Parts: sequence; structure tokens; C-alpha cells
Amino acid sequence: MDDLKAKYLGQIADAGDENALEAIRVAAVGKKGEVALKMRELGKMTPEERQVAGPALNALKDEINSALSAKKAALADAALDERLRTEWLDVTLPTRARRQGSIHPVSQATEELTAIFAELGFSVAEGPRIETDWHNFDALNIPGHHPARAEMDTFYMHRAEGDSRPPHVLRTHTSPVQIRSMEKQGAPIRVICPGGVYRADYDQTHTPMFHQVEGLAIDKDISMANLKWVLEEFVKAFFEVDDVELRFRASHFPFTEPSAEVDIRCSWDNGQLKIGEGDDWMEILGSGMVHPKVIAAGGIDPEVYQGFAFGIGIDRLAMLKYGIPDLRAFFDSDLRWLRHYGFAALDMPTLHGGLSR
Ligand code: PHE
Repeated sequence: MDDLKAKYLGQIADAGDENALEAIRVAAVGKKGEVALKMRELGKMTPEERQVAGPALNALKDEINSALSAKKAALADAALDERLRTEWLDVTLPTRARRQGSIHPVSQATEELTAIFAELGFSVAEGPRIETDWHNFDALNIPGHHPARAEMDTFYMHRAEGDSRPPHVLRTHTSPVQIRSMEKQGAPIRVICPGGVYRADYDQTHTPMFHQVEGLAIDKDISMANLKWVLEEFVKAFFEVDDVELRFRASHFPFTEPSAEVDIRCSWDNGQLKIGEGDDWMEILGSGMVHPKVIAAGGIDPEVYQGFAFGIGIDRLAMLKYGIPDLRAFFDSDLRWLRHYGFAALDMPTLHGGLSR
């Protein structure tokens, strides 16, 4: 028995981890372990021998068990010490500056207008920025020879030499998403499609890449009056005022008939852009009743369905709302500008919580 004790206490002391310890436990005091085997021999002993050997065996078993749990605790402590030694953190290091990044005014304006149109029952649809020339032009009733193709200062993609198919284009407006949405959803439909668009143009209010949000509502009895109401509601909600002065101008787009452009009253005094006062007008959107040919191109029957569409310049909206006089600065990535005009990341615009506190 002394041999057993010396053997197992020695093994326990040398055990390097929990697995080794468990193997020792099984061999020593497990059901078929050495101590259990010895216990079985008690039956063959005389009562006198048994009276001595029984308690001694039980004591041995207890001793091994407590050595096992003591060693187990010591191993756990050592493991913890090792973790504490290696996984340390200097909590006295200075933290990072609170507001490294900010939400760009274009993203902010997009979130705001999405919240407003969601309330009016419009869901968000998207389309590719590299567009087929059919979706960007033909399907919108702008055939190959149409002057609007030239007017839009289109960026064309490259085609391999000998490939005679018309090249893809960087979409010049979000209107192709009208076609894609109609193809995908059919009628009735009520969607807005925000996103980047491209035209070769550059001055204080034009950049080669800018942002539009398309709106499309198709049903059996939608009229120009619905269009006007939706736009007025939108503009009031967006600028967070009870009244905004809008000017609806008769206009022409190949994909709407009749068509209207909408301007908003503003002033540019001393390089400051202000909305709602002054003698200037800034054009913010084009709109109209969707042309029957466009409805048909989207796979919907124009004898049954009709509706309105509009395309709003998101960057222009942001300039007007936040008094930012030069569009080009939007895309300069100047950190000072972004810190000044950017928005806090956690202020999600909602109609009930306020759009732009
Ligand atoms: N796609 C037009 C533009 O970019 C705007 C527009 C959209 C006009 C929808 C009418 C209807 O100028």
C-alpha cells in the first residue's frame, strides 16, 4: 500500500496538465483502477486482516483524491497566472479621439429623404452604376439619334476592338432604375432609387459624379396632382419648414409627358447659400407623368397603368439645407471640411426623432 501511495502521489505531483491528471485518476481510483482491484481482494482476507486493510485502503483512496483535487486547483491557478502574464493591457494608454469619422452630408441627406419617402409608402430600389445603353437611353424613349444623349455629356465604357455592340455607359441619371424596378416588380409600384450618377461637367454646382434619387409611382389612377402633392410634402419635410417656395416650370424630358422642372427659392449673398429667401432659384428636380413607351419598356401595360416619376439632385438638396456653397468640396475628401459639415454617426434621421438635429 505504501508503494501504491508513493507511486501515485509522485505521479500527481509531476502531472503537467489536466489530461495527465485525469489519466492518473482513472488508473488509481477509477472503477477498474489499482485501488479498486485491491478493494476486491478484501473478500479473500480473514476478518482480522480485513479490519486493518479496509480502513487503510479507504484512507489511501481519500488521500489520492485530495491530492488530485489540490493538484487540479494548482494547475488552474498556474494557467490563470500564465494568462494574466501574457494577456495584459495597458489601461493607462490614451484613448482614441471620440469622433474620428463623420457622416458625409450626401449620406445624411440620403438617409433623411429615405425616411421621408418610407413614410409616404416608397421602398428603396437600386441599380448598377455601369448601365447598358438600352436601360439608360432607349428604354427611356431616348433613341440613338436623340440630342439628349449628347446633352447629357455621357461617359462611355470601352469595348474591345471589333465588338460592335453599343458600349455600356456610366449611368447619366437614376432613371434606368425605373425600368429595372418595373421589370422586376411589375405594377403597382412605388419606389425611390438613390445613387451615384455621372456626367462630364464641372463647376460650382456640377461635378462629374453626383447623386440623384429617382421616384416612381405606377398604379391605375395616379395623376400629376399626386406628383405635385408628394413633391411638396417631401420638400417641406426635408427642409423641416411649414412652407417652401417652389416653382414648377413646364419642361421636357423624353421619358415623361407632361414634364415639369422644380426650382426652390434661394439666395447666394456674400458666398452664403440660403434657402427660402432672395431672388435666385436653384433647380432641384425633374419630374412628370411617365411616358407610355417607358411603361411598356418596363413590361407593364400602359393602357391599364399610368404614373409619375421624378429625379432629385441629392447633393443640391444637401447644399441648400446645410448652406454649403460649393459642390466640388463634397468630393475633395478634405478632413477639415468633413469635420465641419459631417454628422455624428449615431444620429440616425427619423421623422419622429427629427431629421437633422
Ligand atoms: N432623369 C432626369 C435628369 O436626370 C430627371 C427626371 C427623372 C425627370 C424622372 C423626369 C422624371 O435630369
